[in-house]
Amino acid sequence: MYKNWLLTRRNALRLGLATLAGVGATIDVQSVDTNYQVQSFVKSKRTFNINSKKSLKERAANKGLIYGAAIRYDDLISHPEFAKVVAQQCGILVPEWELKWSCGNKLLRPNPHSFDFKPADWMAKFAKKNSMLFRGHTLVWHESLPDWFKNQVNSQNAESFLIDHIKTVMKHYAGKVHSWDVVNEAIGLWDKRSDGLRKTPWLEFLGGDYIDLAFRVAAEADSQALLVYNEFGLDYSTAEDEAKRNAVLKLLQHLKSKGTPINALGIQAHLSGDKNDFNPQKFREFLSNVASLGLKIMITEMDVTDKKLPKDLVVRDRIVAAAYEDYLSVALDEPAVIAVITWGLSDRYTWLSEFQPRSDRAAVRPLPIDAAFNPKLAWNAIARSFDNAPRR
Ligand code: XIL
Repeated sequence: MYKNWLLTRRNALRLGLATLAGVGATIDVQSVDTNYQVQSFVKSKRTFNINSKKSLKERAANKGLIYGAAIRYDDLISHPEFAKVVAQQCGILVPEWELKWSCGNKLLRPNPHSFDFKPADWMAKFAKKNSMLFRGHTLVWHESLPDWFKNQVNSQNAESFLIDHIKTVMKHYAGKVHSWDVVNEAIGLWDKRSDGLRKTPWLEFLGGDYIDLAFRVAAEADSQALLVYNEFGLDYSTAEDEAKRNAVLKLLQHLKSKGTPINALGIQAHLSGDKNDFNPQKFREFLSNVASLGLKIMITEMDVTDKKLPKDLVVRDRIVAAAYEDYLSVALDEPAVIAVITWGLSDRYTWLSEFQPRSDRAAVRPLPIDAAFNPKLAWNAIARSFDNAPRR
């Protein structure tokens, strides 16, 4: 323990000295490529100081914003200490698995004829008991379809499956949900369609209008929830993200011109700590274009993968924290942004342990709270972003 502490302190010192010595200074962290050296150098100047321990939800609320996290039922019920931290920090709760058709060991749709609301109901109650808002994720997403879907759903009955699912689930929670991700990840430029839509069973069975249909049914089922289109890959200045932003704008413009009842864009914001190409100007412009369509914006699934970052905890946490602050300081400048949600709260429970593991097998650290439920620099970074945000 002491030795580890010494090691990490020493690396921190090296970083600090590098800062004083100028850009040319090398950072003596093994297996760090030039990219990280520059990043660490620049970011090591930051202090991430905060002036109180006020929770993230309070800091957000002070600015008219909402902060919360996506959490799994199993983790919430198995660790009361975790549940306490969730209740302390979050103003909104999102079931990570429990409101998808099927995800992990949870089946909202165990078969074509029934619904199992038990885990999500428990979470909705937990949210209410702790004065949190509750958020629905997600009604239409090709990736969460259960095994039976393939044999049961076809172009003849797809429309009634879609309508029935949206109506039943939304009515079950009507009046209790802040916002619903009605359609998730519908764009796939690799499919090379002129409308940019991804080839999914819904597209195949119903054509591109399935998106409009889903929103219309949703608006009827719950007139109070904000209706959101949620998408990933919108964050960086790469050609790929640039094309995705354009495709999303085109889709949103199309929906608005048809009178589709859509209220907001959800930007997932799964960031990579090793990427250096976040361009504030381009991102700002995108947010402002979305806002000018009369839509709100929610940051819906934020985390920062540390998969390719140096193992050293001081360096790693600093780069992750900087990625949070760089992104949020730009996002929160846009008045249409109303909420920030992280995809998980503690490093102990994150999808990235499975989806973006480190090659050195060290535990991943993409979230604001560490695996022992203590706040990290990323927590400070988010706190500072809220403190510095203009009031809504
Ligand atoms: C992920 C969950 O976090 C994983 O545990 C699950 O195995 C797959 O789904 N975009 C989304 C989320 O919209 O629903 C995904 O959640 C992460 C990417």
